[in-house]
Amino acid sequence: MRAELAGLRESALAEIAACHSEGELEAVRVRYLGKKGSLNAILRGLGAQPPAERPAMGALANEVKEALVAQLDARGGALAAARLARGLTENRVDVTLPGRTRPRGHVHPLRAVEEEVVDVFVSMGFRVAEGPEIEDDFHNFGALNFPPDHPARDTQDTLFLAGDDRLLRTHTSPVQIREMRRSKPPLRVVVPGTVYRRDELDPTHSPMFQQIEGFMVDEHVTFANLKGVVVHFLRRLFGPATGVRFQPTFFPFTEPSAQFDISCNACGGSDAPDPACRVCRGRGWLEIGGSGMIHPNVLRAVGYDPEVVQGFAFGLGIDRIALLRYGLDDLRLFYDNDLRFLGQFPF
Ligand code: PHE
Repeated sequence: MRAELAGLRESALAEIAACHSEGELEAVRVRYLGKKGSLNAILRGLGAQPPAERPAMGALANEVKEALVAQLDARGGALAAARLARGLTENRVDVTLPGRTRPRGHVHPLRAVEEEVVDVFVSMGFRVAEGPEIEDDFHNFGALNFPPDHPARDTQDTLFLAGDDRLLRTHTSPVQIREMRRSKPPLRVVVPGTVYRRDELDPTHSPMFQQIEGFMVDEHVTFANLKGVVVHFLRRLFGPATGVRFQPTFFPFTEPSAQFDISCNACGGSDAPDPACRVCRGRGWLEIGGSGMIHPNVLRAVGYDPEVVQGFAFGLGIDRIALLRYGLDDLRLFYDNDLRFLGQFPF
């Protein structure tokens, strides 16, 4: 029995030393010291020992047990400490590291101005419509009362698609035709959108730019309604003291037609223009857009009776308004996509 106890002690100590996890260690403990473990199995033979031997055997068994418990505790403590240390290195968080910031995107300045313009018209009861940028001759010109030989149809201005009747719309007015053909008066619609012309890129021209079209059709619509809407809009956008003037001009699709200007907000304006002003070039006025009463031929082209309904329409350049709004003098900035420029518009 003495030899059995010594053998047990030896193999148990070796197994404890070889344990690499607290789970393995617990299994070793149960195997040797558990109720059905090896130590108890040996002790069950105690009764068969000569009585004189029993106390010494009991003492030896206790000694072996205590030695194993001490080793189990020591090994268990070491394994637990190692687990903790591993956890600390594996899940280390350096709270002093600067946070990872994501660059914050924002709306393009042209889009921001477009939204601002649309909001003013929506507040006056206009709804928003859009149309295709690839148009046909009928919508871009024909239905808008352009005569067949009108210079605007010329390749000087219009970008045609190769091989057929299609073209890149030169203005947002074709959406007037689409909307009027789709629905019946009364109509109050604004149409923001991209338009294209064969222009060289320079500080004031771009082959691609943004327009917003507006029109209203109903019974008894007059030029006074047009003026009221346009003046209200311009003063909401540029301030209540903004001077506005209408001057006769010509568009095939409106009659009478008027261009409208605002007093220059970069110098003394229309009252006291600065001859050296970069923005208005000393004129005191800035051309903003075109407008007029929708031509009876246009109303007829969409199936309306010009004896019953009338309408007004206007169109303006968003790029121009954005330049004035931000005090810039080069339209190309909006299309270069230089983040150093765009990043200055925190909307
Ligand atoms: N479509 C015209 C242009 O692009 C602007 C305009 C719109 C004029 C509506 C009158 C009425 O120049």
